[in-house]
Amino acid sequence: METKQVIEKRRSIRNFKNENISKEVVEDILNCGRLAPSAKNRQNWYFVVLKNTLKEKVTDLMMEYTKSNDEKTNFSNSIEHTANVIKQAPILVLVFRKKDDNWIVSDNLSIGACIENMCLRATDLGVGSLWIRDIVYVADDLAGLLGHEDMELNCAVSLGIPNGMPKQKPRKELKDIMEWYE
Ligand SMILES: Cc1cc2nc3c(=O)[nH]c(=O)nc-3n(C[C@H](O)[C@H](O)[C@H](O)COP(=O)(O)O)c2cc1C
Repeated sequence: METKQVIEKRRSIRNFKNENISKEVVEDILNCGRLAPSAKNRQNWYFVVLKNTLKEKVTDLMMEYTKSNDEKTNFSNSIEHTANVIKQAPILVLVFRKKDDNWIVSDNLSIGACIENMCLRATDLGVGSLWIRDIVYVADDLAGLLGHEDMELNCAVSLGIPNGMPKQKPRKELKDIMEWYE
């Protein structure tokens, strides 16, 4: 697909077919993330791919969190909804960053570029993706579970074959979000 077409076609996918996707396809998508620009070329991202049992453990932790912390967050519905998406999608990519307080903002921007590259490549390959932040409520549990306490969970991406294509969510008009001076 043309780049512009891929950008226009990408959607957050929250319904997936009960179909696996191959390691080769997942690695192709991760590789496009790897090629993203990063501040000072730090490439401060690290991917952990989960399927089956460990992926279920993630959704269990998220559900437990919403049950035990309802006074702490107004986002329980969102967390539960996202946990259900993670459950459905065959692949969950966790994206960690090495802890480095001096680089939090730049590294976060870089990881954004990395994730968007992945989501666009997924679209190009007919794979649906969901960029996920709701997982950070269980970040410490997951870092402990996977022995990655030296890193911080930044976000995650669910991948799978889309079951239907949602309509594009509304976007602000360009004229309302820009100024141009000559
Ligand atoms: C940083 C970031 C975090 C997000 N986290 C979640 C999430 O935890 N759960 C979810 O369902 N969607 C999540 N989304 C998806 C957004 O809701 C979605 O991108 C937005 O509504 C626009 O829809 P679209 O992606 O289909 O264009 C996230 C998107 C971004 C960029």
